[in-house]
Amino acid sequence: MGFVAPAHSIRSGRLSGRPQKRLTDQRVSRRWSFLPSAPQRLRALADGNWRSSTTTTTTVPSRSSSAVKSAADVGTAALAWERLAFDFVPTSCYVKSVWRADTNSWSPVEEVHYGPHGEPVMPVHIASTALHYGQSVFEGLKAFACADRHVRLFRPRENAARLERSARRLNMPVVPPELFMEAVQRCVLRNCEYVPPYGAAGAGGSLYVRPLLFGSGGRIGLGPADEYTFLVLVTPVGNYYRGGLAPVTAYITTEYDRAAPRGVGHVKVAGNYAADLKPSMEAKARGYPINLYLDAREQRYVEEFGTSNFAGIRYLDERGDRYVYVTPWSESVLAGITNRTLMELTQLEGMAVEHRPVTLDELGHFDEVFATGTAVVITAVDQVVRGERVIPIGRTTGSGHVGPVAQRLYRQVRAIQTGEAPDPAHWTHLVI
Ligand code: COI
Repeated sequence: MGFVAPAHSIRSGRLSGRPQKRLTDQRVSRRWSFLPSAPQRLRALADGNWRSSTTTTTTVPSRSSSAVKSAADVGTAALAWERLAFDFVPTSCYVKSVWRADTNSWSPVEEVHYGPHGEPVMPVHIASTALHYGQSVFEGLKAFACADRHVRLFRPRENAARLERSARRLNMPVVPPELFMEAVQRCVLRNCEYVPPYGAAGAGGSLYVRPLLFGSGGRIGLGPADEYTFLVLVTPVGNYYRGGLAPVTAYITTEYDRAAPRGVGHVKVAGNYAADLKPSMEAKARGYPINLYLDAREQRYVEEFGTSNFAGIRYLDERGDRYVYVTPWSESVLAGITNRTLMELTQLEGMAVEHRPVTLDELGHFDEVFATGTAVVITAVDQVVRGERVIPIGRTTGSGHVGPVAQRLYRQVRAIQTGEAPDPAHWTHLVI
């Protein structure tokens, strides 16, 4: 794995062509599928029981699903794995469960197969509270093909717990952890052809899992929906940034705030990311692939990057063999699972973690800075720009070198995720 790369640009390439493996999926799905005729679809619409004309919905018991897919299917989709970016690539199906106020319960997890033309679409009430009032929360986690041919998820129960916190903050029904786990495992299992084979997709290959909970019931007056949909989709991904681990220059966003104190910044609410689109696009237009937010109240403390948490490393010796891991505490920072993993790995190494308010003035005193999140894992930052001022980070700023602590932590996380290193804290969860 090379840690020196010149490019700071964002990957935008798309994989083209339909994966050939889809034929197999459609054959399998036909065994289970309900293909409504046009009059049936009209009747279903009139009953309020919508079914997309391009999707087929099936309820399949978990046991049958695992009988259909096995380790032999992992990574068999006809995709150019080494060219994977962080883009949506359609797979075989997604899974969903629906909560309704009248029953106060979640429906059994269903598999929804993409249709004959592969459109990953679903019908949504035109007055849904997600569309109108932003009642939508999501998660991101990854499944990995491992050295021992198994497929494992990384810390899925942490995502279930955070989704619960997000749901409570937006007044949504909670997805029970066991339902979350069933849906995530089922979706990975049924799409296991799309898990990048072990070692085939370069450093960053994985099956990205995106659980989404949103108000699907229609309501025009402001109030909670009477129906919520929890869906899980998966898509194979490579590195988030084109340069992989190569360091980038970050731009401090001063014109906008990411999140207010006592707002929704600490939970994974879709609107947080919508609010970042304009600031992050403006940063990119200036040539900076990543933007960093300060606290909304004083603009004095470091909060987080547009899509990931902030971590700063202070060396306690010349080479960074001994160090302190510093990451901002604030009521509006998202509780990142990868950040937590890095903090725990640091502590396992016998090093100190400081989880506390971090002032802007401290930035230039760190030996290393990086962004950390599920999608990026670690993105090293070797300088930070604020207006006209450039704040260099560490001794190798501008050289394209990633600091030794970021390299070590990254390798450790990846090794545990892919089963190359022991998993003493039981972070991984076996799917296949
Ligand atoms: C993740 O790291 O999983 C995220 O939620 C960031 C997202 C914008 C890709």
